[in-house]
Parts: sequence; structure tokens; C-alpha cells
Amino acid sequence: MYRSIVVLTGAGISAESGLQTFRGAGGIWQNHRAEDLATPEAFAAEPALVQRFYNERRRQLVSGPIEPNPAHYALAKLQAGFSGTFTLVTQNVDNLHERAGSQNVLHMHGELLRMRCGGCGDSFVVEGDIELDSLCPACASVGLLRPDVVWFGEMPKHMDVIARLLGDCDLFLAVGTSGNVYPAAGFVEIAGAHAHTVEVNLEPSEVQSHFAERLYGKAGEVLPPYIEQLLK
Ligand code: APR
Repeated sequence: MYRSIVVLTGAGISAESGLQTFRGAGGIWQNHRAEDLATPEAFAAEPALVQRFYNERRRQLVSGPIEPNPAHYALAKLQAGFSGTFTLVTQNVDNLHERAGSQNVLHMHGELLRMRCGGCGDSFVVEGDIELDSLCPACASVGLLRPDVVWFGEMPKHMDVIARLLGDCDLFLAVGTSGNVYPAAGFVEIAGAHAHTVEVNLEPSEVQSHFAERLYGKAGEVLPPYIEQLLK
């Protein structure tokens, strides 16, 4: 039986919920350039364009027919039923893990439903649009609010705690991530030095060769039976 489990999720776990992944057929970065929308430089150059992109994604998450799927629920069940240390790290900015019942999710790439003030640095829940002239609720600065997401070139969140947990886990499970974006893509090598490692993905990822065990198929179909086995 395992003592400490770290799970890393990516956009693939939310695909069956109706959210686009980033890469591959139909992915967000097929129709948009990441450099134009997901970098601090893009925000400085074209703030209206960047805010509109995130406002649209936030609206889809809040008002669209988007619900957690069996893979999200399976991870919440694992957390609730596992007696050791359990950590869920996600690259996703959606809130589907929380809506499925997961607790203390580490959003290493931030959250779509939070905004941050570039003036005072405070972060707040936001469900509506962020406008260019929106007022910071804490310091009252105008026009300094941005989505509290991590753009390319910025430091992912919670890295200290994630590094400690990866160094101590005995099972590392990656679900629905293509292994293109570091540091998350490198977690399997860190954990694999001492832990069992499992990849659950639609297809082999860029870092598939580092995993000891690989399960291919839709996360909503492959993950629940795997987790039932773990909990036995
Ligand atoms: N079940 C399991 N895996 C799936 C499913 C599914 N139903 N559908 C797609 N996938 C897989 C794809 O095959 C792909 O390997 O999920 C992976 C998604 O990869 P990406 O779109 O690259 O998403 P992710 O790995 O989360 O991207 C990392 O890149 O643009 C940035 O900040 C963004 O957090 C994101 C980061």
C-alpha cells in the first residue's frame, strides 16, 4: 500500500467535460498563438485582447454546460478514501476538481476564477469579466487587474511544496497532460527516482518513456477503475 501519492493533472482530464485542451486537434493553441495571449509581454502590448480571451474562457466555465467528469470524481474519491498523504497538483485553471469534491488543490498555473492586482499583489475571486478600467477591491488602483493565471515566462505557483512532496511520494500519477510544459513535465523524473510512476493519457505523452506504467484511453474511462483498484 502506498504512503504518499502525488497526482498531476492537465487539460486532458477536463476534455470530457467539454473544455478544450491546448495541443493536438482542436486545441486552443491550434487557433491562437500562445505568444499573443499567454505571456506578460502580450498583456503589456494588447491588454484588451488578452482580457477578452480570458473573459471568454471564464464565461464558458461559469455559465456553460461544463461539469466535472468521472475522472475528477475518481480523484476526489481517492483523496477521501486514502489514509496516507494525498496531493493533487493541477496545471488546469478551471475549478472542476473542486466542484468534484477535491480539497486543497495546488493550482500551479493559477486559477481562471481569480484575478490579481498588479499594484498591491492581492488576489480575489472573480466570476464576471475583468475590464481594462476595473478597480482593485483592495488598493483601489484602476486598470491593474489581470487574470491570476501563470503565463509563459512566469514562475509556477507552489513549487516549494510540490518539490518537497515529489521528493517524498511513493506513487506519482500524471493524468491528461502532454508533457510539453516544464516544470510539470519534469515531475515524473523527480518522482521516478524513488516512486512508482503512472501515466494516464489519451496517447503517449512527450515524457512517456519515464513512466513505469502507462494506461492509454479517456481519463473518464481509464482512471475510475484504476483508482478503485488502488483503494482496495
Ligand atoms: N483523457 C485523457 N487524456 C486526454 C483526453 C482524455 N479524454 N483528451 C485529451 N487528452 C490528452 C491529450 O492527448 C494530450 O496529451 O491530454 C493532453 C493535453 O495536453 P495539453 O493540451 O498540452 O495540456 P497540458 O499538458 O495540460 O498543457 C500544459 O500548457 O499552454 C499551457 O498553461 C497551459 O497548463 C497548460 C500547459
